[in-house]
Amino acid sequence: MALKKITVKASRGYDILIGGGLLDNAAEHMKRAVKAKNFAVITDDHVAPLYGDKLADSLKSAGFSVCQKVFPHGEASKSSYTLNAIYDFLSENSVTRSDCVLALGGGVVGDIAGFAAATYQRGIDYIQIPTSLLAQVDSSVGGKTAIDLPSGKNLVGAFWQPRLVLIDTNTLDTLPEEFFIDGLGEVIKYGMIKSKSLFELLERHDSLGIRGVLEDVIYECVSIKAAVVEADEFDSGERMLLNFGHTLGHAIEKMTNYTGISHGRAISVGMRMITKAAENSALTAKGLTNRLTACLERYGLNAEVAFTPYELAKAALNDKKRMGEMIHIIVCKDAGKSEVIKMSTNEFILLLS
Ligand code: GLY
Repeated sequence: MALKKITVKASRGYDILIGGGLLDNAAEHMKRAVKAKNFAVITDDHVAPLYGDKLADSLKSAGFSVCQKVFPHGEASKSSYTLNAIYDFLSENSVTRSDCVLALGGGVVGDIAGFAAATYQRGIDYIQIPTSLLAQVDSSVGGKTAIDLPSGKNLVGAFWQPRLVLIDTNTLDTLPEEFFIDGLGEVIKYGMIKSKSLFELLERHDSLGIRGVLEDVIYECVSIKAAVVEADEFDSGERMLLNFGHTLGHAIEKMTNYTGISHGRAISVGMRMITKAAENSALTAKGLTNRLTACLERYGLNAEVAFTPYELAKAALNDKKRMGEMIHIIVCKDAGKSEVIKMSTNEFILLLS
């Protein structure tokens, strides 16, 4: 299929390229995006054996020099410990401001490599090469970079836009099914918040059938994300829509110590709960909860959790130490139509009770 391109007009503009097999000609695309002659690949031990050599070969045969840092896969690596190891690696390999970091992997790799690039020598170029569905449709676009602290996820980070996002959809062929399903949680989110046609397409397919139209689905999600980031790069308005289902979803992840349930499944529960509560309060069109629930079920995203919406709302507020303050809640009025509603924490608790 033909290469698709989306240009993000943020504080630093960049292209997002989408297509099967892009990694084979990675160097060609990078040449157009950055001036670097040396590339530092940051990746994990799942992705390195699959795509590390392919990427390095493409770069070396184009005359570039390449070094590679591999760390253990998983959220536990998104830490200051790994970050320091990346800084040491960049320094030991004499990486300078005229070089470029390549974040090859899923969301953890993209977030930590992006943060290392944002801060090493006060900021160097980086390119996102996402290999999971979740990273392709969400975390690789928009310049949010971060590491976790023991007290919570993404608590230290920076907005630092990449120079290019290279989405090789063939990398999804090696993505284990459970991670593919997980990414579909974010895909359904995009349909709910911004695209009725995407949501209706998702309603007509399932996790097998959707693979036949995956490039179009990824293109639609990334187009939405790019437009939202252009409208509100620093997350003070429109970008909050991307958090639909995330307030309760994050509470579930936290209450299960980030091991009980995956992110996509947790936000799926969050989307369902907030939509049900909003429908009960006439903030949402009648029947949307049933449609959303049925759609999530088609993709195996119908996990049940041991917590009530009320318990999760309380936990979300305690976590953010926000009792007595105003908070922003994302509600879908209908499929493809979302809004940010500012309410007091008491109103939020009442909504979920
Ligand atoms: N993943 C949410 C955002 O980029 O704002």
